[in-house]
Amino acid sequence: MDSAWKESYACWLQYKEIDDASLVERYASYGQRVAVGGVSPVLQSAANECVRGMTSMIGVEPTVSDRITRDATLIIGTKDQVSLEDYGIRTNPFPHLPDDGYVIQTANVGGGVLLLLGKTDRGALYAVHHLLRLMQLRKPVDELAIAEGSRNNVRMINHWDNMDGSVERGYAGQSIFFENGKFADNLERLEDYARLLSSVGINAISVNNVNVGKVETRLITEDWLPEVARVADLFRAYGIQIFLSINYASPVEIGGLSTADPLDPAVREWWSERVANIYRFIPDFGGFLVKADSEHRPGPFTYGRNHAEGANMLGEALRPFGGLVIWRCFVYDCQQDWRDRSTDRARAAYDHFKPLDGAFLDNVILQVKNGPMDFQVREPVSPLFGAMPQTNQVIELQITQEYTGQQKDLCYLVPQWKEILDFDTYARGKGSTVKSVVDGSLFNYAHSGMAAVSNVGRDLNWTGHTLAQANLYGYGRLAWNPEMRIEDVTDEWVRLTFGHDSSVVEQISKMLRESWRIYENYTAPLGVGWMVNPGHHYGPNVDGYEYSVWGTYHFADRDGVGVDRTVQTGTGFTAQYFSPNAEMYESLETCPDELLLFFHHVPYTHRLKSGETVIQHIYNTHFEGVEQVQALREGWRKLKGKIDALRFHNVEERLEAQLANAREWRDQINTYFYRKSGIPDEKNRTIYK
Ligand code: GCU
Repeated sequence: MDSAWKESYACWLQYKEIDDASLVERYASYGQRVAVGGVSPVLQSAANECVRGMTSMIGVEPTVSDRITRDATLIIGTKDQVSLEDYGIRTNPFPHLPDDGYVIQTANVGGGVLLLLGKTDRGALYAVHHLLRLMQLRKPVDELAIAEGSRNNVRMINHWDNMDGSVERGYAGQSIFFENGKFADNLERLEDYARLLSSVGINAISVNNVNVGKVETRLITEDWLPEVARVADLFRAYGIQIFLSINYASPVEIGGLSTADPLDPAVREWWSERVANIYRFIPDFGGFLVKADSEHRPGPFTYGRNHAEGANMLGEALRPFGGLVIWRCFVYDCQQDWRDRSTDRARAAYDHFKPLDGAFLDNVILQVKNGPMDFQVREPVSPLFGAMPQTNQVIELQITQEYTGQQKDLCYLVPQWKEILDFDTYARGKGSTVKSVVDGSLFNYAHSGMAAVSNVGRDLNWTGHTLAQANLYGYGRLAWNPEMRIEDVTDEWVRLTFGHDSSVVEQISKMLRESWRIYENYTAPLGVGWMVNPGHHYGPNVDGYEYSVWGTYHFADRDGVGVDRTVQTGTGFTAQYFSPNAEMYESLETCPDELLLFFHHVPYTHRLKSGETVIQHIYNTHFEGVEQVQALREGWRKLKGKIDALRFHNVEERLEAQLANAREWRDQINTYFYRKSGIPDEKNRTIYK
């Protein structure tokens, strides 16, 4: 690999040589003699990473000792392996830290020692990454006193990878896990992936698609368990647990039973045996991820059972081994008739699950998509957050950009995720934010956190679009600490990825931060979603979405547009929110502009809070969106020569494609709504092409 490719592949772990001599000297004083407090695969990974990073950044390879010596300059270990008092540290921060927490402390012993101590060995690995990040950011390390823990216990990545090598909604090449119906041979690649994930604190991963095919159904059998175990061994060394997506009909499809009814004793026994067998191969197996009764997937409904009965049966099988069931709430009838206003897809998850609050076992977690629909550019927060005080929940985000530009268009999702996490559900009065629901603090959940669908594939830069690496990084950082500011996550990523030239940092940070709004401008106005081509979901097609065969999702006619989800005259969806959100969305006066058409059907001449009419807003944002993409391209071109040609061209090419896409969106959307409404653009711009 030549050096440009290496940078692209290394993502935010480039560990570039530092050219500031005085910094190098300081770093080098700690990077001479590394001592590791114990022996475990995770501590081994921590030490290896430390050596790799130090050697590469300061040009000196540390010596490594597997026991703590008096002359060590850097100590990696756990709280039980090192006495803080020996290093003059009197207050012990560990009791206040969660299990994955760590302490980084500079101690004045000898010529100075850096302590990188985890509560567990996983924490030690995170501490090493924290230090290496500080060094990559050129920060001083002489007076560090850091005690940090993650806010979320579950910090998971879901792969939608199939064993034939394809990736559902994948935009960065084939699967890194599978090829041609088997596990991929390239373990080095997987190891580099594990390094990337652990560097941002990811601790769980499901490797196969939630839509579990015939072949993948067998992953839980001896046919494949040795291979799954191999992958699990590899990820374990980076503190990452493996989960599998399962097919709810497995007892029938591979077990020779005539039913998969969760209350049938033979079915229960079958799963218990399967699970026990899995743990023989993978002693720390994470558990199952389940998509049931959704989009033609089998589930408990087939047998007249509800989702608590369905999930608990698996929960019981996994419980003796400490395993979890992650049960998705993406349950809706994709064939429902949208013209019938008594059904509303937005209501489905809440209608199915809210009545079951308290009925799930402790080792079952409900995984709730961030919005009530499906990862649209803009939708409200799912009303299930806050609505189930007695049921563990994790939020599900989509890093892969299915509806947000498919890694051809630039769309940095951290601003969207922050908005979601900061949203106040009012479940327990003011301050009941989504982040406080999913971190478990609001209701004291036994298990909770964040999960997200991966955007990674076999492309050498992992994510296709170089700048889409920022979404993977940003997800990890927010899952670790949802309080991080957008500017800080962004600035970190850009510096780690492109270095410290301030014009580069400013330009790329600005592009990233603005990109979601820009994407929203030229695609989906005011909370209308789904105006995409059927099947692949890229590009505009106003009435195109495959499950809108019964009519449109936006109800545009000659007079108006939008979906009436009010209690007064619509589907009643607004009632699923707590007060005052319910009233805020119910009323035209208080519903935020950006979600207006999600909640209300209004005439094209309705005036927004901005003063514009709805139709004029549609025209304006679509024209503006294209201009903004042009500006993105111009902004990027200014960086020519300041970053390597490989990554420069990768992004430039995509910005060209994005511009063409934005123009297409502008023309199709504007034309469609002009034809429907008959109202011309106030500014007389050309709408027909
Ligand atoms: C979306 C996506 C599907 C996916 C589904 C899910 O509908 O288009 O590919 O299977 O979400 O989350 O289960």
